[in-house]
Amino acid sequence: MSTVDLEAKIPNNVGLRDNKRLLRALEKWQPAFLQWWRDMGPSDFNMNDIYLRTAVGVGKGGWAHFDYVKMPDYRWGIFLADGVEDRKIHFGDNIGASVWSEVPGEHRNRLRRLIVTQGDTEPASVEQQRRLGHTAPSLYDMRSLFQVNVEEGRHLWAMVYLLHTYFGADGREEAEAMLDRHSGDSDSPRILEAFNEPIDTWLDFFCFTTFTDRDGKYQLASLAESGFDPLARTTQFMLTEEAYHMQTGENGMGRIAHRAAELVRDGVDPMSVGAIPLEMIQRYINFWASRSMDLFGGEDSTNAAESFASGLKGRYREGDGIYRDARALESAYQMKVPDGDHLVDREIPLRRAMNALLLDAYRADCVRISQRWNRDLQKLGVDFQFEIPSTRFNRNQGVYSHYRFTPQGEMISESEWTKRHHEWLPSQKDRDYVKSCMVAVHEPGKFANYISPPSMGVNEQSVDFEYVKFH
Ligand SMILES: [Fe+2]
Ligand SMILES: [Fe+2]
Repeated sequence: MSTVDLEAKIPNNVGLRDNKRLLRALEKWQPAFLQWWRDMGPSDFNMNDIYLRTAVGVGKGGWAHFDYVKMPDYRWGIFLADGVEDRKIHFGDNIGASVWSEVPGEHRNRLRRLIVTQGDTEPASVEQQRRLGHTAPSLYDMRSLFQVNVEEGRHLWAMVYLLHTYFGADGREEAEAMLDRHSGDSDSPRILEAFNEPIDTWLDFFCFTTFTDRDGKYQLASLAESGFDPLARTTQFMLTEEAYHMQTGENGMGRIAHRAAELVRDGVDPMSVGAIPLEMIQRYINFWASRSMDLFGGEDSTNAAESFASGLKGRYREGDGIYRDARALESAYQMKVPDGDHLVDREIPLRRAMNALLLDAYRADCVRISQRWNRDLQKLGVDFQFEIPSTRFNRNQGVYSHYRFTPQGEMISESEWTKRHHEWLPSQKDRDYVKSCMVAVHEPGKFANYISPPSMGVNEQSVDFEYVKFH
């Protein structure tokens, strides 16, 4: 087990104390991070005491500690999952070779790009969500938002640690650039599109944590297979925190849907009482699911093939031995691609289809979540089922972009799209309505009318616990 140094200025289990150069570099970056947090992080809540979980170790049980903390005092630390002795690369061309504990020269640029792209998403989401605290539907939800925010901050620390430690001067430059790009900034935006979309309602927030954080899970999981051992160990631990973000999304969406369904069951129009109709929730699902699917990149990608071949990025759960061919050289991926006004079958060599494979695993996971929401609707006796859109629907990246599809994946003409897309995607009217539902509730145990209370509180506290203190 690694030793955890919690007393250090930067809590860590990577032996920072003994690496003076690295320690100095990170201690120089720290004030810039804190300044960024104050300028771009949750606005106006830095003086509140928030009941937050802080990572204090990487052991299976008891890795986190809960207490009241003011967000700027949060102990952002650097934690890597414990290494596996004598670990070998288990996929691609280098199978059986020892994993790298330093950056292999020939893969340096590719690795740096993977780390920078992942790292950039972490502060981006904090920026996107910075004003949400003002309309929190309860103290419980406000706490969840801030928990997610501080942990995304810690994920940035994790990626910056890798850049500082393994990429020399250009790594330090990249670390600085993480705080210079800003979500939605026209001159210097965040790298990926979904991280430049504003998140100004809680429905967007819960969609984001359900669908976009879930993309994060799949990206992190495939990096956790990496032959570059420090990256594998860093992302493994990030996944522990990520699970809570997705749960926040799943629960939040489920509670908004539950509230709407209760009203429908009782014969009340949700819009007459400031709740959100199920059809409208479905349109938000369609929007955020399709934006998040774009994050997987092109279905047919030589870039993805090379990351796999070189052992940098594996398939989802590659290490669990669920794939027959660890080199991915023997089979092909079948998919339908647009050709004029119809779809034709295409076979893509498996290695080039790594993004498509990961996207399929992702979508199946999303379907599983939506089925849980649907079971609840069924229990309430409401005749409505959520659907996860096809991977073809509303895409801006990959083979389906520039073509029009229904949420079920049926190809349609531009004119039909123009006629019908408001059935499928949020209109300005929807957005204005959802915004009008956003009311702040600060009384412990009370919730805005569009969202049901959760079935339990956090860390065995009750639902009406004072999760955020206003002095
Ligand atoms: Fe994250
Ligand atoms: Fe996250």
